[in-house]
Amino acid sequence: MDMVFIYILIALFFIVDVVVIFYIIASIIGFARFGVPYVKANPKAVEKILELADIKPGDSIYDLGAGNGQFIIKADKDYSARAVGFEKSIWPYLMAKFNIWRKKSKARIYYKDFLKEDLGHARVLIAFLMPKPCACLRAKLDKELKPGVTVFSYAFQLKDWRSGNVKERIIKDKEFPSWIYVYQRTVGSEQQDRK
Ligand SMILES: C[S@@+](CC[C@H](N)C(=O)[O-])C[C@H]1O[C@@H](n2cnc3c(N)ncnc32)[C@H](O)[C@@H]1O
Repeated sequence: MDMVFIYILIALFFIVDVVVIFYIIASIIGFARFGVPYVKANPKAVEKILELADIKPGDSIYDLGAGNGQFIIKADKDYSARAVGFEKSIWPYLMAKFNIWRKKSKARIYYKDFLKEDLGHARVLIAFLMPKPCACLRAKLDKELKPGVTVFSYAFQLKDWRSGNVKERIIKDKEFPSWIYVYQRTVGSEQQDRK
């Protein structure tokens, strides 16, 4: 009996080690390929962002670089949003798939590069990236976003995106270590082009 217990413990340690090793490998690969490691946003910040987003049932929420799917699963479960995530690293993508199945969520995760996707249908965009991808994203947001869309960037500012048409707010809270940057577009791309 004692030996069985020891074997179970060894097996559990082995499983935990494998998960940790995959997590570290996913972070390194993600960083090498996209300049963004796989790191989960603080759960309190996830709650705060979804609370601030003022989501109505059926609203489209996109998480750009969805990691293990924590934002999209919560947006679906707690707010009945049409939650969509894009993830281009295989390990976080598989974790998101598994979590969606485990939580019986209707959220959708795509193994795709969000820079190649049309973001024009989103009502809320969430990003936890780094300065370089944030800079690539700005031009895309300028082209595709409709007025009234809210963009939440956790920890990284979309520098220089503030303009007459984009309002920036910064949310600081003792509950989580990094700031939340909130952007709201008041004029869409077509109106802007006509100016
Ligand atoms: C810092 S993690 C954030 C994960 C999740 N959003 C969260 O907050 O818990 C950023 C994720 O974005 C993914 N990523 C970076 N650039 C991407 C791209 N162009 N297309 C899809 N995923 C991308 C990375 O693989 C990484 O898993």
